[in-house]
Amino acid sequence: MSDAPDTFYVTTPIYYVNDKPHLGHVYTTMVADVVARYHRLRGDDTFFLTGVDEHSAKVVDKAAEMGLSTEDWAEQNAGAFKATFEKLEMTHDDFVRTSSDHHKAKVTEYVAALLKSGEVYEGEYAGWYDAGQEEYVPENKAKELDYKSEVNGKPLVKKTEKNYFFRLSNHVPALLEHFEANPGFVQPAARRNEIINRIKDAEDIPISRTGTSGWGIPVPGDPEQSIYVWIDALFNYLTYVDTPERRHYWQSGAVHLIAKDILWFHASVWPAMLMALAKIDGYGWVNLPKMVYTHSYWISESGEKMSKSLGNFLDPEAIDRAVDTFGLDALRYFLATRGPLGTTDSAFSADLFAETYNADLANTFGNSASRVTNMIGKYFGGVLPEVGDGGKPFAVADDALFDHLKLEGAAQLGLRVVREQVDGYIEATRPFTIAKEPERMGEVGTILYNCAEALRIASVLLWPFIPDACEAFWERIGCDYAAQMKADGGKGKLDEWLAWGQLKPGTPIEKGDALFPRYVAEKK
Ligand code: MSP
Repeated sequence: MSDAPDTFYVTTPIYYVNDKPHLGHVYTTMVADVVARYHRLRGDDTFFLTGVDEHSAKVVDKAAEMGLSTEDWAEQNAGAFKATFEKLEMTHDDFVRTSSDHHKAKVTEYVAALLKSGEVYEGEYAGWYDAGQEEYVPENKAKELDYKSEVNGKPLVKKTEKNYFFRLSNHVPALLEHFEANPGFVQPAARRNEIINRIKDAEDIPISRTGTSGWGIPVPGDPEQSIYVWIDALFNYLTYVDTPERRHYWQSGAVHLIAKDILWFHASVWPAMLMALAKIDGYGWVNLPKMVYTHSYWISESGEKMSKSLGNFLDPEAIDRAVDTFGLDALRYFLATRGPLGTTDSAFSADLFAETYNADLANTFGNSASRVTNMIGKYFGGVLPEVGDGGKPFAVADDALFDHLKLEGAAQLGLRVVREQVDGYIEATRPFTIAKEPERMGEVGTILYNCAEALRIASVLLWPFIPDACEAFWERIGCDYAAQMKADGGKGKLDEWLAWGQLKPGTPIEKGDALFPRYVAEKK
C-alpha cells in the first residue's frame, strides 16, 4: 500500500447556484467521493468538501429573470445541489454555502488582514471584462481572442472601476519556485506547463467589485465595494476547515479537484493569496495545497448533441435518466472510470455507457457473483463449503493508483481479481464437471470457497465505485461490512478485508437477483 499521509483533505469546485446541477458538476463531486471512500477505507482521517458558490452576479441576473429574490433563487438551487448529492449517495463531510455566516466572517477576517498587511491595496482598474465569466482578460490575451470571450464568444467590454488589488506580482518568484520544487503541485504535467508560462507575466489583480446590489461580502471598511466572487469562492477551501477541530485537514495539504476552466485561479491566485496570508501574524499555520488536479471535460458525442437514450447528455434530467436506466452504481462507475481525468475530453456516449456496464459490471462482477452463488446453492445447499488444503490466497498491490487519480486502473484491480481468480480459475478447474463425481465434492467445495473469497476481495476493491452492489453482495455472503461502512465508512478496514480467508465455511450463501442485469438496448 502507499505511504501517503494519514490525513486526507479533498475538495471539489463550489458550483454556481444560477441553475440546477448537471452531470458536469456531479462528475467532479463523484470523483472526489470515490477517492474519499477509498481513503477512509484505507484508514486516513478523511475530510471531503463540496458545495456551492453563491455570490455571483449570474445568480442575481438569473433570479431577476425568474422574478425571484436572489436569496430565494440561491436557496432553491443550493437545495437542488444538496438533494442531488444526497440522492447520489455522496459522502461529503460538509457542504459549502458561501452565504453562511461562518464563511462570510472568515473571508472578511482574511481580507481585513491582507488589507492591513498591504498585500491588498486600493487602486483603479481598467480592462477587458468577460461578463459571462465575471473575469477580466489581460490585454495580450484579449487581443489574441479578438476581444471576444474565450468561452461564449460574446464581445469583451472595456470597464473602469475603483478596486482593491491583490499584489499577485509580488508572489511570482515564490510561485515559480514552488512549481519548481513541487512538480506534482499541478497535475497532469501538461497543465502545469501552461500555468508556469502564464504566471511569469502575472500582474496584480482586482479583488473587489463596485456594489452588486447587496449580494456578496462587503470589503471590510468599504461597504461600497464587495469582494470579488472568485476570491470569496476560493477561500471556501480554507474557511470550512478553519476551526480548531478541522485545521489539521488544511495542514495535511489539500487535494483540489477541478476542471481545466478554472485552473488559473487555483494554481496562481489561490496559492499566492495563501502565501500572503501565511506571512501575517496568526496565520503562520496556513500552508499551500498539496495538489491541484485538473481534469478535462465531458463533451457530447461528435456531431450528435442529443441522443435518444440519454437525451441532452449534461442537462439536470440526464442524471435521473442515467440512474433510471442503469442504476446509481453504474453511473458512478462509468463517470469515475471512463471520464476525462487526464488531458483529453471524454465523449458522454450512450453506447460506451452500455458497453462499459455490460462488460465490467454485468458480465464480470455481476455474472461471477451469480455463477458462484448458484453453484454453492446447487452443490452445497446454499452453505459455504469447507476449504480443503487447496486454499488459494493471492495478494493485491495497488501502486498508489488513487493518489494519482488513476481511477480506471484502480477499478481494474478489482475486475482483474474477478477475471483471474474467479472466471479464469473456474475455466481451468471446471467444478461443474468434477461435481459429477460424488467422491470429488471436497475439491468442488475448495474451488467454490476460493471463488467466494476472491469475489469478496474483489468487492472490497470495487466498493468505492459500486458501493450499493458490493453491500448487497456482502449481505448475501454473510459479511457484516455494510454496517461498518454505515458507521464510519469502513475506516481503516482495507488491509484486514483484503486479507485472505475471512469467509467462514458453514455460512449461508444467498443467490439473490442479478446484481447488474445485462442491459439490452431498446430497438430504435
Ligand atoms: N463557482 C466556480 C468555481 C469556484 S471554485 C472555488 C465555477 N462553478 S461552475 O458551476 O461553473 O462549475 C465548474 C466546474 O464544474 C468545473 O471546474 C468542473 O469541475 C465541473 N464541470 C462543469 N462542466 C463540466 C463538464 N462538461 N465536464 C467535466 N466537468 C464539468 O466555476
